[in-house]
Amino acid sequence: MSDYAIDITDLKKTFDGKEFVLKGIDLKIPKGSLTAIIGFSGTGKSVMLKHILGLFKPTSGTVRILGTDLSTMDDNELTKFRCNYGVLFQSAALFDDMTVLENVCFPLEEHRRTLQKNQIIQIAQTKLKMVGLDPKHFNKLPSEISGGMQKRTGLARALALDPGIIIYDEPTTGLDPILTEMVDDLILQTHKLNQGTTSVMVSHDLSAAFRIADFIVMLDAGKVLLAGTAQDFFKSDIELVQRFVTKGMKHQ
Ligand SMILES: Nc1ncnc2c1ncn2[C@@H]1O[C@H](COP(=O)(O)OP(=O)(O)OP(=O)(O)O)[C@@H](O)[C@H]1O
Ligand SMILES: [Mg+2]
Repeated sequence: MSDYAIDITDLKKTFDGKEFVLKGIDLKIPKGSLTAIIGFSGTGKSVMLKHILGLFKPTSGTVRILGTDLSTMDDNELTKFRCNYGVLFQSAALFDDMTVLENVCFPLEEHRRTLQKNQIIQIAQTKLKMVGLDPKHFNKLPSEISGGMQKRTGLARALALDPGIIIYDEPTTGLDPILTEMVDDLILQTHKLNQGTTSVMVSHDLSAAFRIADFIVMLDAGKVLLAGTAQDFFKSDIELVQRFVTKGMKHQ
């Protein structure tokens, strides 16, 4: 069994057959780690995440997740396999016409059909409490709670199936500084509370990446420019890394 939750080898991707968006990504993310993926806009972060989720197929190269090569699975198997992921995008993407509690029950009703209704509700309540949502909000609609609470609800829903890998794509983009810090802390807390879970966060927010991540991976023009600890980034003499680090430090 592989010690890597995510093991990507020489991943290349072109959409039009001419220009390569990913130009040979090699990346190993250890199980149980919190990894931040950083890099300038348009460098391929989201495209790489979509390969990790099996939503895009590589032009060449392999993506192994929790020891399984995604290319060996058909669409049905992939759909089932995606229960291993919890995903939180920039928008919490909640169902507007469902209450907070119903939103978190939803994946359990879809994928844990052997559970009784009261067991499902109990799990959903536990997840909502884990992300710090007060039970008095459980029966409200998303429109009736604050943006921060919506994020918490989205995270509780992402955690519902006890995923081995949690993926955050720009979880704090567009939020005010206080909410940003709250969401970053929430990601760190969630990571610590769910021992063994691998967390991967794409972020523009460098100070958050340096503060909470075990490993940082910087992409540039479809390749990994540097992968390492915060220390490795501070010590690096790659000019682009230095520029990114200095820019990020100003936020702190
Ligand atoms: N479905 C697609 N079809 C064609 N090109 C795409 C597709 N998705 C992404 N691209 C291209 O791939 C490149 C990388 O995009 P990607 O979304 O991965 O950037 P990113 O690093 O996530 O940027 P940002 O920080 O702005 O989110 C861009 O040039 C984009 O136009
Ligand atoms: Mg992106």
